[in-house]
Amino acid sequence: MQVIDIKNIAEEMERKSAEEVLRWALDTFHPKIAFASSFGAEDVVIIDMLMKIRSDARVFTLDTGRLNQETYDVIDAIKDKYKTKIEVYFPDHKDIEEMVSRYGMNLFYKSVELRKLCCEIRKVKPLERALKDLNAWITGLRRDQLDTRNNIKKVEIDNSHNGIIKINPLADWSWKMVWDYIRKNEIPYNKLHDKGYPSIGCEPCTRAIKEGEPFRAGRWWWEDGSHKECGLHFNPLKK
Ligand code: ADX
Ligand code: SF4
Repeated sequence: MQVIDIKNIAEEMERKSAEEVLRWALDTFHPKIAFASSFGAEDVVIIDMLMKIRSDARVFTLDTGRLNQETYDVIDAIKDKYKTKIEVYFPDHKDIEEMVSRYGMNLFYKSVELRKLCCEIRKVKPLERALKDLNAWITGLRRDQLDTRNNIKKVEIDNSHNGIIKINPLADWSWKMVWDYIRKNEIPYNKLHDKGYPSIGCEPCTRAIKEGEPFRAGRWWWEDGSHKECGLHFNPLKK
């Protein structure tokens, strides 16, 4: 990888648009860069931008095995529209077999520890595998999604993943900007968004929210607010 002055570039990128950040990222890191997509509203915006910059930009998804049908539908709709390959990562089958044999199929409702174990096996470990040979990754994180996210930069060093570069091109976007872009560019989106789901994770762990509830209130809704991360982006054990 070429040597880059990441501190100066990160400062410069804070003043750039999402498209400019992505163009710089692909020019600098492709093919050792990929977009981690859950195919939520932010993520389909990023896919549209990436495909307009270069059609061979890499996109991967972590299929936990517990996603909603609507999520599988939008993955295929995006794949067809942009004629792109989506790299799919599954959890290790031995880990899953051992976990559910021991703790049950719905272990996540039993305790925060078991919920985090499930996220670790179904999401965090597959993410580590996906990032293993990359120099940079892209996410759809936005600052106003959650307190633990309000300090993210558009370009930062990811100390949880061997110090590779993490690119958050929509860090300063609002929810309205996301939807204006989706409508203007007629991008396929997850139909759960029309049913009251702003943030979408796994089917058993996500519900629709009511008017006035926080953005991520539907994620792990039975837990109190302090745990609303799965470890993909904020892992207290690694900070
Ligand atoms: S999570 O940590 O709570 O699950 P969230 O759903 O807010 O994350 O998504 C934030 C970003 O994490 C997404 O924009 C995407 O970049 C990445 N991400 C989340 N879930 C997945 C997934 N299943 N596969 C790939 N990337 C994901
Ligand atoms: Fe398991 Fe729920 Fe985490 Fe999905 S969100 S990995 S089902 S605990």
